[in-house]
Amino acid sequence: MKDYRHYFSRSLSHFKDYLLFQGHSHHLWPDAGFAGHEMAAHLAATQADLKWQTLYQDIIPKAKSIISSQLGLSHQDMVFAPNTHELLTRLMETLMHRGAKTLCTTTSEFYSARRQFQSYQTAGLLKVNWQKHEFTDSAEQILENLGAADIVFFSQCFFDNARFLPTEEIEKWLAKIPSSTTVIIDLYHSYATRQLKLDQINQRCYLLAGSYKYAMAGEGVGFLIPPQQGPDLNPINTGWFAQFELLENNPKTLQYPQGAQRFSGATYDPSGLCRFVKVWQMWQDEKITLNDFHQHAIELQKKLSTITQPQGAKLLYHPEQEHGHFLCWQFQTRQQASEYQQKLLDRKILCDSRENYLRLGQAPYLHSIPQDLF
Ligand SMILES: Cc1ncc(COP(=O)(O)O)c(C=O)c1O
Repeated sequence: MKDYRHYFSRSLSHFKDYLLFQGHSHHLWPDAGFAGHEMAAHLAATQADLKWQTLYQDIIPKAKSIISSQLGLSHQDMVFAPNTHELLTRLMETLMHRGAKTLCTTTSEFYSARRQFQSYQTAGLLKVNWQKHEFTDSAEQILENLGAADIVFFSQCFFDNARFLPTEEIEKWLAKIPSSTTVIIDLYHSYATRQLKLDQINQRCYLLAGSYKYAMAGEGVGFLIPPQQGPDLNPINTGWFAQFELLENNPKTLQYPQGAQRFSGATYDPSGLCRFVKVWQMWQDEKITLNDFHQHAIELQKKLSTITQPQGAKLLYHPEQEHGHFLCWQFQTRQQASEYQQKLLDRKILCDSRENYLRLGQAPYLHSIPQDLF
């Protein structure tokens, strides 16, 4: 197994004697991330307001180019925001304003999405059809239950069971979905875990993801990629960053720029973008690819599936299926899962639990797994 730990020396120096299974939650920054953070501070100190020119002319185009290549896209049209929730609400509220009344989603969506949809439902703005699936359901079955709504929202990789829906399965499913349905895919747990090829899907789907997990850049870089063949929506929640290109004309009426930039909000902390660019330029210079990290995670998962398992829990793993870069153990109750997490933490083993699932991540800085881990 390859050893990537020296790329994370600064973070790891604070976790001597720990076993870190938390990369799926808040990934450690590689040392290059600290250099990116320093670069952001330097830009602010030396360029004041002019730093935005450097950001828009240099850093942001680089970030777009990296993301586009990681997702296998043929374009670089995307917009950034501090988190995905901001972009999701901006999009959802625009769609609802344009008449969307129904949403089909799963019960395995991340808390922000779940809570936001519950809020729209409670406010009477949206009728939500929640679809539940089992870990053992095929990708085809999971997808087949989604549809027949104005908006469909789902994750490519589910946060509570690590099921990863292969891109080809999503493509097949999409062919059956009416063109009037808006499809939004949350890539947070699939993005930067392996080389993706989402160009075809992005012809008609919105893609959403961010930086603080597998992209290793810390918080602050949520992004939205609108469909290449979708309508140019005019978001009703809109900030002055959507007006940048138009500022010189001093528009008196509300105008929107071309492309994804129309989904911009307002002033944000750009240090995440600096970290992101430094980190991924470093991996590029080192000739280390997403597929190297994927291979590493697969090896760790195989090992985890063969060691002595925790009592009272079922490992959700199938060697023939695709998984995210974490595995889940299903306990009977939420309390059992969180007690087990605490038990591991007492032994300096860092992981997390969500509801009745214990989740262990397989980050590149995790190198070996003891047989008696549990
Ligand atoms: C599936 C998924 N989407 C999105 C997010 C993050 O959302 P946000 O950037 O709005 O905090 C997470 C975080 O754990 C997630 O698991």
